[in-house]
Amino acid sequence: MGEIREENVLLYGADYNPEQWLSYPEILEEDIRLMKLAKVNTVSLGIFSWAVLEPEEGNYNLDYMEEIINRLYKNGISVNLATPTGAMPNWLTHTYPEVLQTAENGIRNIPGKRHNFCYTSPIMREKMGKMNRKLSERFGKHPGVIMWHISNEYGGNFRDASCHCELCQEAFREWLKEKYQTLDKLNQAWWTAFWSHTYTDWSQIHSPMPHGEDALHGQNLDWRRFVSYKLQEFCREEIKAIRVFSDKPVTANMMRYFEPLDYDRWKDDLDVISWDSYPDWHTMEDEVPIAVWAAFMHNQMRSFKKMPFILMESTPSLVNWKQENNVKRPGMNYLSSMQAVAHGADGVMYFQWRKSRGSFEKFHGAVVGHDGTEHTRVFKEVKQIGEDFTKISEKVIGTCNSSKVALIMDWENWWAFKDAAGISKSINYEEELQKYYRGFWELGIETDVISMDHDLSSYKLVVAPLLYLYKPGYAEKVEDFVKNGGTYLATYWSGQVNETDLCFLGKKPLEEMLGIFIEEIDVGNEYFTNDADYQGKTYPLGVLRELVNPQGAEVRGTYLKDYVAGMPVITKNAYGKGYAYYLAAQPDRELLIDLYKELCETAGVTANIPDVLPYGVTVSKRSDRDGKKEIYFLQNFNRQPVEMTLRDFYRDIVTGKDVNGCIKLDTYECLILEKQ
Ligand code: GLA
Ligand code: ZN
Repeated sequence: MGEIREENVLLYGADYNPEQWLSYPEILEEDIRLMKLAKVNTVSLGIFSWAVLEPEEGNYNLDYMEEIINRLYKNGISVNLATPTGAMPNWLTHTYPEVLQTAENGIRNIPGKRHNFCYTSPIMREKMGKMNRKLSERFGKHPGVIMWHISNEYGGNFRDASCHCELCQEAFREWLKEKYQTLDKLNQAWWTAFWSHTYTDWSQIHSPMPHGEDALHGQNLDWRRFVSYKLQEFCREEIKAIRVFSDKPVTANMMRYFEPLDYDRWKDDLDVISWDSYPDWHTMEDEVPIAVWAAFMHNQMRSFKKMPFILMESTPSLVNWKQENNVKRPGMNYLSSMQAVAHGADGVMYFQWRKSRGSFEKFHGAVVGHDGTEHTRVFKEVKQIGEDFTKISEKVIGTCNSSKVALIMDWENWWAFKDAAGISKSINYEEELQKYYRGFWELGIETDVISMDHDLSSYKLVVAPLLYLYKPGYAEKVEDFVKNGGTYLATYWSGQVNETDLCFLGKKPLEEMLGIFIEEIDVGNEYFTNDADYQGKTYPLGVLRELVNPQGAEVRGTYLKDYVAGMPVITKNAYGKGYAYYLAAQPDRELLIDLYKELCETAGVTANIPDVLPYGVTVSKRSDRDGKKEIYFLQNFNRQPVEMTLRDFYRDIVTGKDVNGCIKLDTYECLILEKQ
């Protein structure tokens, strides 16, 4: 689909909502001056503009938008133009109530808020199609429009993003018919003989609801697949309408650890990946877990297509929807923006350009506050980032992170995992994944985050934490990967169920490759603690612990206490040209880091730089295909300066200064370096 824009610059800008300011023409003029001052080169426009673009049904009003796009363009500011389905105008919801979602209590919503349309409704699809075609016809070839921002945070308003209306129920049944063909097959796949829940007619099937059926795990899993698929189908329809007149790249802004939508499938419909990041900076004892939270997501975004992504929304100061909303302390906006670039972003955008005067987001952070000037701490930091972006753009564009390590994170596993309630309700897949990613972050090792569907052949080391569900073909793919020389780590609570959430019978899929027999899992507590011995060192273990019997595998670590004393915690099995490791119990941070050192040595994986990183410091590396460009981002997330020693000679590409030997990294400093 071509480049996002012709000039080689990192995108820099914000969500821009001029609709709120149409009766303040002096403010719209001033916006341009301030944008140029802050080095803004792109804005996301029209995200919530439906009510202005189509004030009454069929009466379109696109002139004001043309004027704004022209003015921005003349001033060197490009537009990422949105389709406005993120929020529905009142005439639409009042005239056609079927466009409103029905919640899981079975009650249809009343008009209001946003991100709450029924994605199955033919009327919603028709009205969206007309609007999108109008926008595309009018602006699809405008040189100032560089990209399409399809809707906004699909599914963002509801806990599970799903609509339970009659149209959706019927569509679910149709989807199931196509998938299973016969009720008999469906009953088998869902294990409906349990509690006498056998279906004898398709019309008996409903979406899972708290006051109805929610005990059939296979059904829950299929419903989640259906919801993600149906919303994706809606997104596809939006893109189709845009494509009538425009072939500019499309993106849809994704969200953090957003469980309802299988973004790994969505990625295929989008030309550019983007996401909205709002980490909880400054809310913990140290920033490392928060930095890891964001870094993990950035890595997932760049891994989807193995290409740079855009940080579509971030706040320059605070948000307004958390329990307590603290501002980003001085330096943190700089560091977190550079962090995104360090992990593969080719653009950093804010929510929002200017603070609303009223309504829900009037105190949400923005580049320009109610004072309307450039004289604020926030504006100055935003401007500084804009200036530094212009200095690093040329070096950074055309590069991305390339990784020999992959961490598996899969939505279907996530969904099934939630239902595995028999083990522990307090185990959280996202948090567990972050712990596993954190080890690599601390060691400064590039790590992709991929689903079970991805090709593994470009990696040397694959880590698959808590992969409870194996999709068809996954185990065979892993066996091939290891046979061909790869190193693989599986952990406790893996390979228990198949794609319809039925437990595997007999040997579990990867047991042979791992050289073990997995017998049972326990959830310990404070009265029954355990430790591991791993290569002569003792480590406390978490609560999830499995009883595993070696069957050919070498035992690298053992339990130290209780009835499992002496049994394996870590095993290693030679398989073909590679090695398969198993970790039978929840590790602490140190055990994981030490284990990663062994895994990396076995796999031949090296860190981005050869030096020891102080706690809270990480380094990311972006390079181009032929290895001519290599950019290092040395990031200090500590609340105080730290010192470290760099063995190699680097040049700071922002200041032009030489960097080598013992260096000091200031609080929240990010150095952007190239080798000399
Ligand atoms: C989301 C939305 C934005 C805005 C921000 C506030 O990301 O997409 O429209 O509401 O949250 O943080
Ligand atoms: Zn519906």
